[in-house]
Amino acid sequence: MKCRSTKTNDGYMITTNISAVRDWALRQFKLGRTSIHGFEHWDRVHRHGLNLAERTPDADSIVVQLFAVLHDCRRRNEGHDPSHGRRAAAAATEIRNILIHLNDDRFNLLLIACRDHTDGHTTGNPTIGCCWDADRLDLTRVGKSPRRRFLSTAAAKTMVRR
Ligand SMILES: [Fe+2]
Ligand SMILES: [Fe+2]
Repeated sequence: MKCRSTKTNDGYMITTNISAVRDWALRQFKLGRTSIHGFEHWDRVHRHGLNLAERTPDADSIVVQLFAVLHDCRRRNEGHDPSHGRRAAAAATEIRNILIHLNDDRFNLLLIACRDHTDGHTTGNPTIGCCWDADRLDLTRVGKSPRRRFLSTAAAKTMVRR
């Protein structure tokens, strides 16, 4: 994970250091190093997400990486915690323009991906789809295999059996 700088068509300079965001998220994560929702999960979601983004046209890999390191950072327990997506979106907002430098459209994708990842939906948006699928592909850590009908991207669907 390293600093990525991108100049968009409208000249907006984006510089977001994913590792710095991950470090910030880790510092305030309450469930400890052995959590099934902790940094080892974030890093696998990061790997899955980058892999999917490379194979998904129009997916925004910076947003996907930010989702990986933020989406579970405000979990309060290992089980039923339906509001942790909203709290993750709030976390992203807290560090916008401090550690996260995205224009409004891209930041909004990150907010939606974090906020709604707890709701079990699929999506036609390539970036949000890569986020949610990367998270679901790591269900294997708890002995579950992700089902195709709960995946959004063609790239992820090719990786599961049913
Ligand atoms: Fe989550
Ligand atoms: Fe997760």
